[in-house]
Amino acid sequence: MTYERSWATLPRMCGIVGYVGKRPALSIVLDGLRRLEYRGYDSAGVAVIDRDEVLTEKRAGKLANLEKALADRVDDGIAVGSTAIGHTRWATHGGPTDRNAHPHASGDGRIAVIHNGIIENFSRLRAEIEATGVEFTSDTDTECAAHLLAAEMRALRESGSPEGPQTLAEGMRRAVSRLEGAFTLLAVDVQTPDAVVAARRNSPLVVGRGAGENFLASDVSAFIEHTREAIELGQDQVVLITPGGIEITDFAGAPAAGKEFHIDWDASAAEKGGYDYFMLKEIAEQPQAIADTLLGRLSERGDIVLDEVRLTDQDLRDVDKVFIVACGTAYHAGMVAKYAIEHWTRIPCEVELASEFRYRDPVLDRSTLVVAVSQSGETMDTLMALRHAKQQKARVLAICNTNGSTIPRESDAVLYTHGGPEIAVASTKAFLTQLVACYLIGLHLAQVRGVMYADEVAAVVSRLRRTPDALRELLGKMEDVRALARDLKSSSTVLFIGRHVGYPVALEGALKLKELAYMHAEGFAAGELKHGPIALIDKGTPVVCVVPSPAGRGVMRDKVVSNIQEVRARGARTIVIAEQGDDGVVAYADHLIEVPRTPTLLAPLMTTVPLQILACEIAAARGHDVDQPRNLAKSVTVE
Ligand code: AGP
Repeated sequence: MTYERSWATLPRMCGIVGYVGKRPALSIVLDGLRRLEYRGYDSAGVAVIDRDEVLTEKRAGKLANLEKALADRVDDGIAVGSTAIGHTRWATHGGPTDRNAHPHASGDGRIAVIHNGIIENFSRLRAEIEATGVEFTSDTDTECAAHLLAAEMRALRESGSPEGPQTLAEGMRRAVSRLEGAFTLLAVDVQTPDAVVAARRNSPLVVGRGAGENFLASDVSAFIEHTREAIELGQDQVVLITPGGIEITDFAGAPAAGKEFHIDWDASAAEKGGYDYFMLKEIAEQPQAIADTLLGRLSERGDIVLDEVRLTDQDLRDVDKVFIVACGTAYHAGMVAKYAIEHWTRIPCEVELASEFRYRDPVLDRSTLVVAVSQSGETMDTLMALRHAKQQKARVLAICNTNGSTIPRESDAVLYTHGGPEIAVASTKAFLTQLVACYLIGLHLAQVRGVMYADEVAAVVSRLRRTPDALRELLGKMEDVRALARDLKSSSTVLFIGRHVGYPVALEGALKLKELAYMHAEGFAAGELKHGPIALIDKGTPVVCVVPSPAGRGVMRDKVVSNIQEVRARGARTIVIAEQGDDGVVAYADHLIEVPRTPTLLAPLMTTVPLQILACEIAAARGHDVDQPRNLAKSVTVE
C-alpha cells in the first residue's frame, strides 16, 4: 500500500469535470460525474455550450435527480453541444439546494462557473460585487467567481481584446488574482464555444489529453475511460483546453507546465486516488482536511473568526457550562475537547455519550452550551440528545462534516468541519477535523470571555496552522508501523494506555482496532492500570502507550513512563508513541513510534495517526473489508 501521494491529486470535497472536443459533451460529463459518485454529494449540475447559448441544469440531491431533469429536456441543444462542465457538490457555503447547486452563471448569462474548494474572502467580494448592482441568486462563495470573471471579460472587451480562448484565459487569470483560499474553478463562455478554462490553488485539478478532445477533472477517475494521458496542474496555474490544445500558464500569464503522467490505475483504484482503501486515502487527506477546516476562520492577527456560528459574543459570555454529546469516535473527540475547553476557558465542561445523556437527567439551563459532535449529522443517539437539550432550554452548537444534515439543521448554531466526504466507515479525517473545530470553539470562547489574551490565542493558532505540514511529515514515516501491524495481526488482544488527552487517544486507538480487525482491544487511563486492568498483562501482551510531551506537564509524562515500566515488568510488549527527541522512553519501548513535537493539548492531532494506520494495516493483513467492516454502518440512524 502506498502512502506517498502527491497532495495535488488527492481529490476532496466536490467533484468537477470538463470536456471540449468533437463528441456530444453531456454524456461524457455525466459519466465523469457518475465516476465521482462514490464521494457522496448533495447536489449536481452541468453547463453545455450549444451554438449561442450556455444551457445549464442543476438539482439538489443525487445525480439521478439531475439526470431526470435532463431527460425532460429533449428539445434544446443541451445533449448536443461539444463543450461542457459538470459538478457534484459537497456543500461548504450555502445549504444543498437547487439554487446553490453549481454551475453558477454571471449576471449577463454568458459565463458558467463550477468550483471545488473554499473562497476565503468571499464575504468581502460579495459585498463589493453587490455594490455594483449585481444581484446574487445563491448563498455560495462560487457565485462571486462567476461575477468576477464576467466583469473581467467585459473590461477586456472594452479595452479591445478580441473574443476568443486567449481572452477567456486572461479573464480567468485576472479574476482568480482577486481570490483567496482554496479553489479549482472551471468556466465556459458562450462567446468562446470551443474552450474550457480552469484555475487551481490549493485544490486538485488534472487534465486528460485526448485525440481532438481534452478533459479536466478533480480526479482522474472522471476521464480514465477516455484517456490515460494526464497532466497534474501545479499551484496557481491556469489551463485552457480546446479540442486541439492544452495551454498552461501561471496566474501572471507566463507559460507554465504541469506534471505529465500516465494513469496506470484501473477505474476502481482511481476512485480511491490510487490507494487500496478509502480509509487510507482519507488518512492521507487529513493534512488538507485540517487546512480546509481552518480556512476562513483565522484572521491575519490570529484571532478566531467564527461568524458562521451564529452565536453572539454575549451568548458565549453567558455560557456557564459546556456539555459535549457524541458517539464513538466523535465522543473521543469530545473527550479531548474537554481538556482544552476547561484549560482555556475555565468553564466546566462535561462529555457524555449521547446514548446515555438524556437518561441521566443532566442539569441543563439557558446558560448551558451543548455541543453535538457528529460527522454524518444523522446519528440518532446524538440527535435525540440534542433534542433533549433543547427541551431543557440549553443552546445547541453542532460540529458536523455534512452540510444540511439533520443535526446541524436542528441546532441553534453549527461549525462545519471541511473534511470532505468520509467514505470509510472507520472515522479518521473526521476525527482530526472535529478536534480542530473543538479547539476553535474553545479558543473563541476564551477570546470572547477575555480569559485568554490575543497573543495567547494567536500562539495556539500558529501551531494549528503548522499541523498540516507536521502531519505530512509524520505520514511519510509510517513504514515501521505497517511492519508492526503485520507482526501483530495474530494477536488476540491489544491494550492501549494514555493519560490526559492521551487517554481518549488510547480509547480511539482501541476502537479502530475493534471495528476494523475485529480484535479485542481496550483503552485505559494509564493511572487506572493498578486498579485492576494490569491483571490482564501476560507475557507478550501488546500494550500501546501514548506518552505526553515532556515539554508539557513533565510529571504526567514521567507517570506514564512509570506505567510503561509496570507493564513491562509483567511481560508486556510495549509499543510507545512519544515525541521526537524524548530519549527517556527508548529503554522501555519494544517499538518506538515518534511523532513531531506538539503542544500538550494539540498532541492527539499527531498521536492518533499511527493508531489509525496500525488498525487499518492489521485489518488488511487479516483480509478484512477495511472500508466496510462487518456489522457496522457509516451513520447509525437508529437508537
Ligand atoms: C468511528 O470509526 C465509527 N464509525 C463510529 O464510532 C462513529 O464515530 C459514530 O457512529 C459517530 O458517528 P457520527 O460522527 O457520524 O455521529
